[in-house]
This record gives sequence, C-alpha cells and structure tokens, in this order.
Amino acid sequence: MNIILDTISSWPWWAWVLIVLALVAIRDVFFQKKHTISHNYPIVGHLRYWLESVGPEMRQYFVANNREELPFNRIERGWIYASAKKENNYEGFGTDRDIYEHQHIFVNNAMMPFKLKDNHPNITDKTFLPCAKVMGLHSKRRKPYRPASIINVSAMSFGSLSAKAVESLNKGVKIADAYHNTGEGGLSPYHSNGGDVIFHFGTGYFGVRDDNGNFSMEKMIKLVEDNPFVKAIEVKLSQGAKPGKGGVLPGKKITKEIAKIRGVEIGKDVLSPPNHSAFSNVPELVDFIEAIAEATGLPVGIKAAIGKLDQWEELANIMISTGKGPDFIAVDGGEGGTGAAPPSFADHVSLPWVYGFSDLYKLFKNKGLTERIVFIGSGKLGFPAKAAMAFAMGADCINVAREAMMSIGCIQAQVCHTNRCPSGVATQSKWLQNGIDPTLKSVRLAQYFKTFRKELIEITHAAGYEHPCQFKMEDIELNVDDHNLSKELNRTYMYEKDSVSFSGIQDLKECVYLGGKYKPQSQ
Ligand SMILES: Cc1cc2nc3c(=O)[nH]c(=O)nc-3n(C[C@H](O)[C@H](O)[C@H](O)COP(=O)(O)O)c2cc1C
Repeated sequence: MNIILDTISSWPWWAWVLIVLALVAIRDVFFQKKHTISHNYPIVGHLRYWLESVGPEMRQYFVANNREELPFNRIERGWIYASAKKENNYEGFGTDRDIYEHQHIFVNNAMMPFKLKDNHPNITDKTFLPCAKVMGLHSKRRKPYRPASIINVSAMSFGSLSAKAVESLNKGVKIADAYHNTGEGGLSPYHSNGGDVIFHFGTGYFGVRDDNGNFSMEKMIKLVEDNPFVKAIEVKLSQGAKPGKGGVLPGKKITKEIAKIRGVEIGKDVLSPPNHSAFSNVPELVDFIEAIAEATGLPVGIKAAIGKLDQWEELANIMISTGKGPDFIAVDGGEGGTGAAPPSFADHVSLPWVYGFSDLYKLFKNKGLTERIVFIGSGKLGFPAKAAMAFAMGADCINVAREAMMSIGCIQAQVCHTNRCPSGVATQSKWLQNGIDPTLKSVRLAQYFKTFRKELIEITHAAGYEHPCQFKMEDIELNVDDHNLSKELNRTYMYEKDSVSFSGIQDLKECVYLGGKYKPQSQ
C-alpha cells in the first residue's frame, strides 16, 4: 500500500492533469449521450459550450458597438444609469448616431423656444410634469385620478421581480410622485411603501381570486378599502411580449409569502389561462369594468397589445352607445419586455408600439372618443425623444418596465426567466437580492424619472410648447425610406391627433385629483 501511495505522490502535476483529461474524455465518449459535440470532439468540445455561455457578456463588454445591442444599446443604458445616479449624462462632440437611419426620430424645433413666465411651476420645479388628463373624470368615477408624473412604473409583479426591487420601485415612485403598477402577482407589502399604486390583474386574478381561481369582487373591494394608495385598477387583456399566452406558476416557486399575496395554495402549480373567466366577449368586458368602477369608485382601465382591430371597434361602438367603458387604455408594444416568454411570441405576436398605437388611436379618434380615455404607452418609450413622439401620436402617459429595472441596477443580463439575475432585480434568490439597498435604489429610480421629465420638458419647450400633450403629429418626423428620407407622423401614420384640453401647468398643479404628494383637497 505504501509503495502505491509513494508512487502516486511522486507523479508530477502534469500527470494529474493528464489523468483528469483522460477521465473527461472517457466520460465524453462512452458515458454521456446528451452532447454530440463533446462525444465527437472529447475535451475540446467543452470549450464550445463554455464560449457559448460567456459569449453574450464578451460581446456586451468588448465587441458590440455603442448602438448595436438589443433590446437596449449601451448608449441607452448608459443614459439611464447616468441619469439615475445624477451623473453627467451628456455626450460630447455631437451625435454618434446615424441620423439618416430608418425610424430615426426628429423633433421639429420652433424658431424660438417656449418661454416660462416668472411664476411658472417649472421655474421652481424643473421636473414637474403631471398628466394632462384625469382618469375617470369623464365617467364620473367617485375617485378620479390625475397621475402627477407622465412617466410611471409599468406592470411587473412581485414574483417576477425580487422583494427588494419592488420595494425600491415603490419607494422611488413616492419620491418622484409617479405611480407603480403592481403587475399580475397581486399587491404585496413591498408595493405598500407610500407610492401611488395601480392595481393590475390578469386571468389568474392574483390577490383578488376566490378558492376556484375566479375573480372575487368582495376581495377587490376589500383590497381597495384597505389600501387607499391604490388609485386605479388595470385589467390585463394582453402584453406585447406574449399576447394570448397563458402561463403556469410552478408549485416549487410558490412560497408561503407568495401564496398569501396571490391567494393560491403553497407548493401547488397555478394556471393563468389565456382567457379571462370573468368575461368572454366585449360587452361583458365593459360590464365587468363598470362593475369594478362602481364597487370601488376607482378609475378602471385595460392593458393590451394590439393586432386585429375588430373587437376594439366593437368596444368603441359600445362606448359610444352606452357612455360606458375603460377610463384608460395602456397600449403595450410587441417589443415589450417580460419575465419569461417563448421567443416565437416575443418576436412575432402583436404589433410594435408605433404601429399598434397608431391603429388603435386612429380608431378611437374616428369615433370621437379620445377625450374620454387616458392613453398610456409602453414598449421601450423610456427616453425623452421617444416619449415626445408618443405624445405627438396621442399618448398621455408613459409606462416603463425594463428602463425602471435598469435605473435600480439591472444590467440587461436577459436571464429574468432563470431566477439567476446577477443584479438581484429579477430573482427570488435571497443571496442575489441582498446586494440591493432599497433606500439607495429608490433614489436612483426617482432621479431617472426626474431627469427624464426635465429633458422631456426641455424638448417640449424647444418645440415651442408648455406641455408634451400639445405636441402634434407634424411636430415629429421619422425617417421612413430612401426617397423621402423623413415624413411627419401624420403623413406616416395617416391621422391627426386630437388636441388635448390644456390650460397651463399651473392648473394641473391645482387639480384636486392630482396624485403623488400633492394633497388633493377632495380626499
Ligand atoms: C420582468 C417583467 C415582468 C413583467 N410583468 C408583467 C405583468 O405582470 N403584467 C403585464 O401586463 N406586463 C408585464 N410586463 C411587461 C411590462 O409591464 C411592459 O409592458 C413592457 O415590458 C414594455 O415596457 P418596457 O419596454 O419599458 O420594458 C413585465 C415586463 C418585465 C420586464
């Protein structure tokens, strides 16, 4: 025995390396059946898998140019990070973009910019930019709501995001006077840190479901009564990344906490079907909206990605004939994000924001309904010039999801579906999310929102207006093709935006329905 041990211990280090490699080669060739490459090219085949796994990071850090990556390129991410940290977010020497590229946005500036009077609210607060419309005012809901910020946090549930991330977002919207959409996972304690909340639910009715998984009006009423910071309710019909796709929340992800918040059983798979059980056609949807608005007093809206228009037309006709219907419509673009979706859906099902929104707005405009509806846009719109374009097309508010995630530290690792998010934003791993300090990150979100609003206000002034709601279609041009390099929005999308009733930002500031820290006198 000693002789054997002595012989083994006298082997040089490279002999050990050879032995390990030989064992790996034997395993590759004879014992594993999963990977053809490592079977056919033992040992070196592993390099391919390793390179494939580190490829995205290598490209992101070393190879991709500043404007190349998707969904958000380095310049876009850098602008969000710098804005969130209140660092210098300017660029020197001029644009590095090819401003002749397809879909490039131009804002037509006025000869002389809009001039603020001495007592204008934007003299004291350069970031004050509330929504020009009030949700639920037209339908005489008991508690109308004017969002105090035109940029807000889009639907992302506790479950897809970590507790620390949700807490950071909620504390952040409180500082920025914006609202926080709960996403489908119910209202968690992390959504309850003082920011305005829009309660959102989908076909799983999480947080407002009965024992059979159906919608419970009783629970809806109680949720609103217990949580006065809930300012509006959003019924999710679809989202851009996966319209018409249901989902399963695996039992192993359902912890005691998630089970309590969502109103489901611990450890048991939960199905979110593609369809709602509370309604099955457009008239029933309208009745459902009215029933919730009546029971809670809150404005009620819908969120959807746009494709076919026939059912939207039916909705518009019902709205005309009955005077009922949604108080707001959140239009999500096909480029929208998700915690998890099959690429076939994320890449192909539903229209990109500009096409979907223009189709929908045109339809409601032709029916004379735009004044009644607050139009919300989402789908990579969290940049001032993009937002200016959205406002010129008829949007009244912008919702941001991934841009908000980036402001609190997301590095676009694109692994939200694996529970291994390295920044702790989109994971339930306690270890990974421990790196997030909600107090610091909330300030980052708020700072991003404020910088965004400030730059959008400045662009608006450059175009000669006081508020982005005054943007008209012809104020923005897009590069559309080679012969006619740019066309105004009205000639590109073939409609004119209705003018939004607006009498000055001071009037918005004095509005009794204004959200955020601005205490409405009526409530
Ligand atoms: C992690 C994550 C979770 C999301 N969860 C929901 C959800 O629960 N319900 C929903 O309607 N949309 C959900 N979305 C879509 C966003 O609300 C938003 O509509 C979309 O990402 C477009 O906005 P963005 O381009 O600013 O990210 C989610 C998106 C992300 C990235």
